[in-house]
Amino acid sequence: MDSSSRPRYRVTYVIGSLATRSINRRLAQALVKLAPPELELHEAPIAGVPLYNYELDNAFPEPARAFKQAIADADAVLLITPEYNRSIPGGLKNAIDWASRPHGRNAFTGKPTAVIGASIGKVGTAAAQQHLKGVMNYSDAVLMNQPEAYIHFNEDAYSADGSVSDPALAKVLSGYMAAFRDFVVRVTTAGTAEAEPVAVRRS
Ligand code: FNR
Repeated sequence: MDSSSRPRYRVTYVIGSLATRSINRRLAQALVKLAPPELELHEAPIAGVPLYNYELDNAFPEPARAFKQAIADADAVLLITPEYNRSIPGGLKNAIDWASRPHGRNAFTGKPTAVIGASIGKVGTAAAQQHLKGVMNYSDAVLMNQPEAYIHFNEDAYSADGSVSDPALAKVLSGYMAAFRDFVVRVTTAGTAEAEPVAVRRS
């Protein structure tokens, strides 16, 4: 199959940092460059999304409406989170709250979703990712469990143009994106004629 005839999957990615020099934005740029051709990545920005208030459930402010629409339009979601005080940045949780509401109109329901993140601490956002996975489980997303990716950010591993200069890191990140592509295909085609046949072992 040549690349023009491959199915394409729209992935909305969310960066949980507002900082212009965010290391998670650097990670996101690297992931976009290393993604397999079947994945089309588009950012849903959280900057400007106001604090969630359920009294506005029937009149979303524009940045919150646009954020939720970007999740709703996606075949899959990639969340790239920093770790703030051993948890998720408030701005990211706030945006997720908007997209999950009002009750019964949750944009995350059934969406194949993956979580990754970079920190300057050696834990590589492990604590934040655990919290985020709990939130996304409740929000009815379908989470990719493996591979996990806890990125300890090292400036020297990235080039100025956003690509990854360290071959070992490039291998980890491209492997992660290839696994995400496989996961998205599996979840979106499960039960359809396109689904890969599953081998059944009989004892
Ligand atoms: C941090 N940082 C941090 N790092 C970590 O490994 N575990 C943590 O719990 C925290 N807590 C924390 C709280 C707050 C309020 C800030 C601002 C920072 C450091 C963090 O990894 C570092 O600032 C990264 O640069 C944050 O990612 P972005 O925003 O640059 O993408």
